Amino acid sequence: MVDDIRIGIIMNGVTGRMGRNQHLERSLMALKQEGGVLTKTGKRIVPEVILVGRNSQKLAELSEKYSRLPWSTDLDSVLSDSKYSIYFDTQITGLRYDSVKKAILAGKHIYCEKPSASHLSQALELYKLAEEKKIKHGVVQDKLWLPGLLKLSELIRQDFFGRIHEVRGEFGYWVFTGEFELPQRPSWNYKKSEGGGIIQDMVCHWRYLIDNLFGTVTDINCFAMTHIPQRWDESGKPYVCDVEDAAYTTFLTDRGIICHFNSSWCTRVHRDDLLTVQIDGMKGSAVAGLRECYIQPAEGTPKPVWNPDIPQPINFYEGWMKVPDRVNYDNAFKAQWKLFLLHVVEDFPFPWDLLAGAKGVQLTELAYQSWQERRWVKVPPLK
Ligand SMILES: NC(=O)c1ccc[n+]([C@@H]2O[C@H](COP(=O)([O-])OP(=O)(O)OC[C@H]3O[C@@H](n4cnc5c(N)ncnc54)[C@H](O)[C@@H]3O)[C@@H](O)[C@H]2O)c1
Repeated sequence: MVDDIRIGIIMNGVTGRMGRNQHLERSLMALKQEGGVLTKTGKRIVPEVILVGRNSQKLAELSEKYSRLPWSTDLDSVLSDSKYSIYFDTQITGLRYDSVKKAILAGKHIYCEKPSASHLSQALELYKLAEEKKIKHGVVQDKLWLPGLLKLSELIRQDFFGRIHEVRGEFGYWVFTGEFELPQRPSWNYKKSEGGGIIQDMVCHWRYLIDNLFGTVTDINCFAMTHIPQRWDESGKPYVCDVEDAAYTTFLTDRGIICHFNSSWCTRVHRDDLLTVQIDGMKGSAVAGLRECYIQPAEGTPKPVWNPDIPQPINFYEGWMKVPDRVNYDNAFKAQWKLFLLHVVEDFPFPWDLLAGAKGVQLTELAYQSWQERRWVKVPPLK
């Protein structure tokens, strides 16, 4: 349509897991297929994507799949093309800072995967540079748009819990080592030099989740381990895992809520989902997975009595009620992309910016410090 707002987006790292599945296919191509994002003025924002990466063959195949999208292996030349106003980065974490910095200096708006950089100093530098250049910026915080967590957030808003005292997050699953089965995560996740480590991967998620739902994180205590010291890479070659593959982390918030999150690539799942978050409050409790959420109000709480000499008389799962889907939930990444595009085009508020991203990187560094020094660490406010 003549009135469409066509917006050029450079997608770097798009042949990877997140880039291809979540950001290209389920977000931008899905939005394009729906006819774009509707603005206040009734126009539609239509993404015009160029694929950028290292491997021409993979890029060409991907391009073919989506009606011949343009592609390039030369980031510098694409950055100098004024047709593209947004730079999106979903490369491996270790490459983020250099590429995002280049894109800011080229005057592009920035949207990127988490973590926004490998170190706090770099993450803050990117934020300051983006502000100086007056460009729009955002960092992926997808968990906030997961249906299960949206339901939790709504329960909090309606004061279902009363005073919340604790939150328990269980994240993880068994990631195959690659010795006999193909691993379902890339090998760089287990290599320090390439930005791997489960603290690096997950603590930034816990930061925005807790900050948005339970109050600002003020203190952290983390212990981690490398449970599996050797894995096999994509070509079947063994390598040494020199980063942690499980982290056991406790956070305190300024609302006095204690949040404990276990994150592990070495655990076998016996729970409702790959991530479950339980909230316990005076008036009720809830447990959310990625999509579903179950509640138990105070009035429906069973009264267990400890007696291991008889079979458990209570079926604890029966005392929970499923929160129904009252709306249609979008893919979480797509939901945030929509808001980012509205932010770029019509200044829609978008607090999930490079400063919020830097807060995640800050907490990641403090988690490593806490683990190394075996102690609680304060989390200073970031301005
Ligand atoms: N938001 C989320 O839930 C979520 C989940 C997983 C990963 N991530 C983030 O997304 C980013 C990409 O993760 P992924 O799981 O898609 O990784 P991946 O290995 O599947 O993809 C990495 C991408 O980076 C590119 N790349 C450039 N240089 C590379 C190099 N030297 N080695 C390997 N790849 C290189 C690859 O070509 C590929 O396109 C990471 O920063 C990660 O933290 C976010």
